[in-house]
Amino acid sequence: MERKKVTIPDLYRKKHEGKKITMLTAYDYPVAKIVDEAGIDMILVGDSLGMVVLGYDSTVPVTMDEMIHHSKAVRRGTKYAFLVGDMPFMSFQVSEEEAVRNAGRFLKEAGCDAIKLETAEPRVLEVTKAIIEAGIPVLGHLGLTPQSATKLGGLKVQGKDAEAAKKIINSAIALKEAGCFAVVLECIPEKIAKIITEELSIPTIGIGAGKDCDGQVLVINDMLGLFERFLPKFVKQYVKLAPQILDAVKKYRQEVEAGKFPAVEHTFAIKEEELKKVG
Ligand code: KIV
Repeated sequence: MERKKVTIPDLYRKKHEGKKITMLTAYDYPVAKIVDEAGIDMILVGDSLGMVVLGYDSTVPVTMDEMIHHSKAVRRGTKYAFLVGDMPFMSFQVSEEEAVRNAGRFLKEAGCDAIKLETAEPRVLEVTKAIIEAGIPVLGHLGLTPQSATKLGGLKVQGKDAEAAKKIINSAIALKEAGCFAVVLECIPEKIAKIITEELSIPTIGIGAGKDCDGQVLVINDMLGLFERFLPKFVKQYVKLAPQILDAVKKYRQEVEAGKFPAVEHTFAIKEEELKKVG
């Protein structure tokens, strides 16, 4: 069957047919191209970029310009997946006007299909509605929202007591009512994610939220074993690339130092008569 670009109705259809939605992050052209070729439904240019690619200690320092730069590269590698750009810290907090303008940059400059923003605090909910009213699809994000990690007491599981769990459930309903097309649930108990998934008509995409969400997302550098600073419990590493890259780079260094690389097959020749003319 001819492959078509994934749309929001496709995501709803998957939820209602009980088919799982797949999502991964990507931050550059070559990885986006591979993820797209693998048939993943959605690609997120997450602000996790700050930690796993740019080397910051948290996602807080990430700027709009950094997000746009990487989103453009991902767009060039993405043909079929639904592409979401992540609104970085302070890109949507100052005013509704600034939030709408920044959200618009993801679509106009980077060619994203939608944006994601964290939390459903009253102010953020208003901003979310304003962005949706401007015609920009919004993916919500609840539970562990890394931009508020300090306020949440660190990168830890959220919604573990009844009050906190009810707050997340109500926030998910509020995001749905505000018009979000889907919501990411990060690091919350599986049973709370199940309640939300059954309650909402829009898809839930889980990360550390158990198997009952309508879809799953992971940070690609985590699942490829490329980010070694820490590994959250909810990550499955499908390959450990960092040690493989280290081996390859060490081998290259040794071969260059030993004069083994480049070999004849990596080298260009010139005819003897031409060489003589060089002098
Ligand atoms: O920034 C990111 O990569 C994210 C995902 C973990 C959902 O927000």
